[in-house]
Amino acid sequence: MERLIVATNNNGKLEEISAILGSHFCVLGMKDAGIDMDIEENGSTFVDNARIKARAIHELIGGHVLADDSGLCIDALNGAPGIYSARFFGKDSTYEEKFIEINRLLDGVPEDNRTAQFVCAIVYIDSNGKEVIAEGRVDGVLLATPRGRKGFGYDPIFYIPELRKTTAEISDTEKNMISHRGRALYHLLQLLETENK
Ligand code: IMP
Repeated sequence: MERLIVATNNNGKLEEISAILGSHFCVLGMKDAGIDMDIEENGSTFVDNARIKARAIHELIGGHVLADDSGLCIDALNGAPGIYSARFFGKDSTYEEKFIEINRLLDGVPEDNRTAQFVCAIVYIDSNGKEVIAEGRVDGVLLATPRGRKGFGYDPIFYIPELRKTTAEISDTEKNMISHRGRALYHLLQLLETENK
């Protein structure tokens, strides 16, 4: 099976990616591949940032490489925090503090307009340097009070009306099926399978 290096050191992300792409590739993170580098994500879109990470690894060691970039886009805030999700309200603020700041910014916004999406862009580069881009998103509504202890980041306030749960109240398996990253990975698989036909 061919190796696929994923531009991340986040084990949760790696597991999610392995669960979906593991039957097609031997999925390795940066650490497993012996890569120790800090990549500055200075792009202006999710695709830009994913491409910056994928290209940096590909230029370093070649082979098949994948990188993703994701975030929370709030409609009433014109898509913010978007690519700045991790750094929103200061990179050292806790998520509880970020949730309070979101409520402050959304003060006066009617309940029905507290809509948001989790968005994920994936850039895959094959051993010849050819790029495939895949994207996924999931729609939700932002709760004023966090719910659930699973997941990470903004999950406790991201409520999916169809499930009647936040993404912090569903299992990892369930989240992989409906999440922005899961959808982007299935989209990538489809694109790769179409290319190989
Ligand atoms: P990155 O793609 O690892 O750079 O993630 C960017 C940031 O977006 C994370 O640090 C979280 O704040 C947010 N984020 C991305 N995906 C999720 C998710 O599935 N749940 C909750 N927050 C997320």
